[in-house]
Amino acid sequence: MFKIVNSRKYISDLEVLRAWTKENGFIYPSSEIYGGFSAVYDYGHLGYLLKENIKRNWEKSVVHSRNDMVLLDSAIFMHPKTWHASGHVSNFSDILIENKKTNIRYRADHVVEDWLSKKTDQELEYFCTKTAKKNIQEMIKKRDLDKSTPEEIYEVMKITDFPDLENFTKPRTFSLMIKTNLGITDGTIDNDNAVFPRAETCQGIYLNFKNVLQTYRLKIPFGIAQTGKAFRNEIIARQFIFRTREFEQMEMQYFLHPNDMNSKFEEWKNLRLDWYVNELGISPSNLRLKKHEKLAHYASQAFDIEYKFESLSGYKELEGIHARGDWDLSSHSKMSGENMEYYDQQRNEKYIPHVLETSVGLNRCVMMLIEENLYEEEFINNEKDKNTAIDKRIVLKIKKNLAPIQVAILPLSKKPELIHKTLEIQQQLRNRFITSYDETGSIGKRYRRQDEIGTPYCVTVDFDSLEDNCITIRNRDDMTQIRVPISEIQSYLMFD
Ligand code: GAP
Repeated sequence: MFKIVNSRKYISDLEVLRAWTKENGFIYPSSEIYGGFSAVYDYGHLGYLLKENIKRNWEKSVVHSRNDMVLLDSAIFMHPKTWHASGHVSNFSDILIENKKTNIRYRADHVVEDWLSKKTDQELEYFCTKTAKKNIQEMIKKRDLDKSTPEEIYEVMKITDFPDLENFTKPRTFSLMIKTNLGITDGTIDNDNAVFPRAETCQGIYLNFKNVLQTYRLKIPFGIAQTGKAFRNEIIARQFIFRTREFEQMEMQYFLHPNDMNSKFEEWKNLRLDWYVNELGISPSNLRLKKHEKLAHYASQAFDIEYKFESLSGYKELEGIHARGDWDLSSHSKMSGENMEYYDQQRNEKYIPHVLETSVGLNRCVMMLIEENLYEEEFINNEKDKNTAIDKRIVLKIKKNLAPIQVAILPLSKKPELIHKTLEIQQQLRNRFITSYDETGSIGKRYRRQDEIGTPYCVTVDFDSLEDNCITIRNRDDMTQIRVPISEIQSYLMFD
């Protein structure tokens, strides 16, 4: 029997996370042989499998466990008018400043708000005496520049003696939309001829609203869900996979009558929070709901589900839950000329449905699951002499059904007859489980390797197996081992 005598979380900062994910084949920096490519990452075998397991679990919870939901896989490219109608071309931007010496870019509103937060109320009062403009005084007093123009931010910087001001570029608007062209075109890409890789997956859902409604004969309320890549020209890209320029979203748009918004909003808020706890196994004490004070251009009420990321020094957003009203369907209706009204037979009423959205960042879930579950443990072997040395392992104690590899199959030695038997057993298990085969190194080392990547079970084939047709199953979490007939292996492999 092994006894765990010490256990602590392994991920303390972004550098440890970055190094661990690379060393263990989960996440690699993009284009590393060319010196890397900022804010873009590639996923290795294990990272890919983990991502797929989360996605499948989300799909099961949001779609397959209900009768009012269908899936969609819309294209990344949409008609350019989509992004004019959605408001992204005119509204989806941040204000940027750049340090001329270091070339580091910042979100201007954030750095200046940070600067103002270090000032006392008296100091802010004093700054306000330097201008007669009421709007500038308000921004300074409230330390809030979220809705400010670049010119206003620059004025606040000057009035409040922003440090090293001469070494910063003037604030300027920076669109988060990535622009490209399709087909045979060249020259500069301006907003009139640009095609935008989608900045959120949900716009494809709005464009297909009528198709889906008609072909699946749906009645309101119902939802359309989809997962897929989204692209944003993020200014700040220093947070590993938390904020990248290419990322994956899992989005659900629930279409309803406006009178039902408040009750459904509460229902979905609870459903989504429960998913993190019950399905992903996240401790409730590391999660919180945060109401938005500042709303996106499309939202009338919004909450974020946040996780306490050790590597980012605090709570950060995982998912947005938004009441988008009829903003999107109405805008697309106006821009395209297509009538998006729905005839509600029960109410005998025609209306443009309102939208309740839940939008999760898949990559952020990967980051959270690694942070939440990766432990460094010290343990002793109780069955050995009392003076036995303390052993160490790094173990990813992720929920078993989310683990990238479910069963590792290990021959005790490289003797051909053992390898043959082991591969035979793997072949049987392959039909039901994601397996991996490993014959290199001592059995202890191989167990450590599987612990570190979160494999819940190791099946070890030894020389006795050739005689008694039994193998050993080792459990990741408590390191217990049981001897089991080969014909019964599957009944011992439990996945929550
Ligand atoms: N359709 C609504 C929407 O896109 P959002 O709050 O901008 O709302 C939803 O994004 C989720 O997508 C966020 O909660 C976050 O998890 C993820 N996300 C957004 N930008 C991201 C980025 N640059 N990198 C990684 N994930 C991102």
